[in-house]
Amino acid sequence: MKAKILGKLSIDKNKIKNEISVIEESGFDDAYKEYSIGKWRTKSIWNQNGINGEAISKEYCGHAKRTFFSNQLTYINEIISKNFNTKYIKPVRVLNSCENGMIFPHKDYLEFKKGFNRVHVVLYTDKNCLNSEKDTIYHMRAGEVWYVDGSNIHSAMSLSEKGKFTLIIDFCPDISLEKIFSRNSSVVKDNIEPFVKYDIGLNQFLIQKASTNVLKKNKPLKKTLCNGLSKKCESWKNIKPERFVFFA
Ligand SMILES: [Fe+2]
Repeated sequence: MKAKILGKLSIDKNKIKNEISVIEESGFDDAYKEYSIGKWRTKSIWNQNGINGEAISKEYCGHAKRTFFSNQLTYINEIISKNFNTKYIKPVRVLNSCENGMIFPHKDYLEFKKGFNRVHVVLYTDKNCLNSEKDTIYHMRAGEVWYVDGSNIHSAMSLSEKGKFTLIIDFCPDISLEKIFSRNSSVVKDNIEPFVKYDIGLNQFLIQKASTNVLKKNKPLKKTLCNGLSKKCESWKNIKPERFVFFA
């Protein structure tokens, strides 16, 4: 697996709960929905122009500006500015997935020249929120900082009601991972073992899950899975076929 844990931050549960409420009340941006099913929602908080709603990632020169909306997110901005080297940051998005929300198995950056060094910082989660890369499923715990390599096929799904809130911070692709952290970063980097849940691919795991009670309640998702996520699926017609690797 190319994804790796880089360290762990302490997250103040009350502060993050308050800011999650602010995000939920404001609504999410309309981006990347065609690559997901169920509740898989994105909110741009730092981007090229600092404009609310510009949630599609772009390659550009320079570093990201905070959106007007994100001025309300004092604690989240503090996490970013205190721990990371902001001069290398491109977009920052908050991702929320819950209620069986899933991103289809895919590879990243196919539309870009270089892509990014992508880091996930988990703000809130539970053990029913899973990621996969090739044949491995893993769970990112709250406060963990992960490097996620998009060149291998990967996917994710959040099976719980509340689900997961994650900061997705994209850094300049030309720097080493050591340089993403600020000098005053409080990220603890030693002796952290990743939580690898199952030694099978999420694809296989989801097919198994399709017959369980969890997904019986979600008829559209069950139907999709039982079809083997094939190209026959109506909602996939507008998706670029090269972006996805479908179930065998
Ligand atoms: Fe991805």
